[in-house]
Formats: sequence, C-alpha cells, structure tokens
Amino acid sequence: MITGRTNVFGIMGDPVEHSLSPPMHNAAFKKLGMDSVYVPFHVKKGEIGAAIQGALVMGVKGLNVTIPHKTSVMEHLDEIDHAAELIGAVNTVKFNNGARGYNTDGLGAVRAIEEVTPVKNKKVVILGAGGAARAVSFQILLEGAGEVVIANRTVEKAKSLRNDLVSNLDASVKASDLDLEVIGEIQDADILINTTPIGMYPNIDDEPIINADVMHEDLVVNDIVYNPFETGLLKEAKKAGAKVVPGTRMLIYQGVEAFKIWTGVEAPVDIFEKALMKELGLGEEL
Ligand SMILES: NC(=O)c1ccc[n+]([C@@H]2O[C@H](COP(=O)([O-])OP(=O)(O)OC[C@H]3O[C@@H](n4cnc5c(N)ncnc54)[C@H](OP(=O)(O)O)[C@@H]3O)[C@@H](O)[C@H]2O)c1
Repeated sequence: MITGRTNVFGIMGDPVEHSLSPPMHNAAFKKLGMDSVYVPFHVKKGEIGAAIQGALVMGVKGLNVTIPHKTSVMEHLDEIDHAAELIGAVNTVKFNNGARGYNTDGLGAVRAIEEVTPVKNKKVVILGAGGAARAVSFQILLEGAGEVVIANRTVEKAKSLRNDLVSNLDASVKASDLDLEVIGEIQDADILINTTPIGMYPNIDDEPIINADVMHEDLVVNDIVYNPFETGLLKEAKKAGAKVVPGTRMLIYQGVEAFKIWTGVEAPVDIFEKALMKELGLGEEL
C-alpha cells in the first residue's frame, strides 16, 4: 500500500508509456518488501530542468532518464559520475541533498557479457557508433577490455567516437567500416556487440550485418536489440557455435545497477528477468 512514507522512484522520457522499467523495479520492490514505488513521468523537451527541480523538492529518491533527455538532463544536475561524464549521457539520477547523475547502460552491457566471459584484456568489436555504442565502448574499456573496434555504416562517426575514446582513456581503439574491414577484425575478436537497430521488431527479417561464416566458436556475440529475444544476428552466432548474450540481459542489468545506486541493495536479477519477460510476452523463454 502507498502511504506518506513510501519512497518514490520513476522514469522520465518522451514517450514513456511503453517503458519496461516500471514492471521490473516494482516487482523487485515487492519481492524485497520495500516501501517504494516506481512510476513513469512524461516530460517534454525543454521541461527537463523543471522536472529535475520538481523531483528534488518533492522528495523523489531516484529517476531513470530516457530518450530524448539523456544528454540534456546533464546541465541540470549538481554532480555527474566520472563514467557518465565521459559517455556524455545520464540515464540514472539519485537525489540526496542534490541530484547526481550516472550512466548504467554501459555497466548493464558489461555485466550481461560477463555472465558469459570476462571482458578484461579482450578484443571487442562493436557494430554501430550511436548513443548505445558510446556507453558500451567507454564502459568496456573502463572495465579493462584490451582493444575495441568501432565499426559503423558512416565511418566518420566511428572515427569520431574512436577519437573521443583515445583522447579520454589510455586505450587501443580502431575505427572500421561494416564491410571487409570489420570481417577481418572479427577473425581474432573475442566479443562482438551489435548496437545498431538492425533486426529490431518489426524489421525482424533484416539481413544481419555479420553472418555465421565470418564468426567463430570462441566468439561471444551480444545483440543489444531485445525485441525479438533471438535476433537474426544471434541465430547466425548459434550457427557458428558462438556463445550468445541476448539484449534483454543488458536491459535487466542497467536496471539492477540503477536500483543499487538508489537503494544500496543488489536487486534480485531473476525477479527483474521474470517481470521483463512477462512484459515482452516471452515468459516461455525462461
Ligand atoms: N538492451 C538495451 O538495454 C538497450 C539499451 C539502449 C539501446 N538499445 C538498442 O540499441 C539500438 C541503438 O540505440 P542508439 O541509442 O545507439 O541509437 P542511435 O544513437 O540512433 O545509433 C544507431 C546506430 O546504428 C546505426 N544504424 C542504424 N540503422 C542502420 C542500418 N540500417 N545499417 C547499418 N547501421 C545502422 C547507425 O549508423 P549511422 O551512424 O551510419 O547512422 C548508428 O551507428 C536500438 O535498437 C535500441 O533499442 C538497447
């Protein structure tokens, strides 16, 4: 029951009504018997400063931030965590005598991959150079990856992300196209991560960028697209005998990391998973 003592958390975005975060966080609060609730807030462009100020004065304990506010929210915060500052985007805000911003997207991807293989000293090929690629590439290098290749359709964007990575971190980073160059890089890579929307519902029959014949069985393949559960890229990875990490794992762990930042508690991953799968209509995949 919600009372005067209930702690309020939520997510701000535009749109926000399809967010999968409320069911995951509320299921965890219920399981842990915490007097807390997580709600969606529809906040339009230009109103993000007022929303942060409003949340602060109303005693909201924490917020997730989603499209289109992940960058614009930063100027309205009192403090920003080092990784979020590097990434240039915030998806989690903790209110405690001020507002502090974090980014748990990259952390979520790293935790998802580390269920299968450690990232330390590994060679990682990342397809795409947008917001998700930026979060994942900075975080995976912060966690000790040995080498990162950013492969993108618009090679200039891959080069620009590469330049940001090497100018901020002591890291080995290459930029590549999505054709012959990337195929060469995958041959001796340990981890392949797709951050492009290729294969995402409703375009589930999109031709994957990389086929089984250029993968190998020591490769770990992570597609951060989570709908469908098994994308065309992951099907190709299975054909090649590679290990796969579905996009739902990143989504679960970015939430688990936000929950920990706000409450100090490690949320039950299985409860997040069950709530997410139910929401996606994928209960049978468990
Ligand atoms: N699992 C999770 O928790 C999670 C979290 C965040 C995002 N995501 C998913 O990640 C995806 C990307 O998000 P984002 O925020 O990074 O998007 P974004 O900033 O718009 O970047 C999209 C990237 O994909 C590339 N791309 C788009 N369409 C392409 C195509 N047809 N062929 C080749 N490359 C293409 C773009 O290349 P150009 O530069 O050439 O345009 C760009 O590098 C979305 O599907 C999103 O749902 C999942």
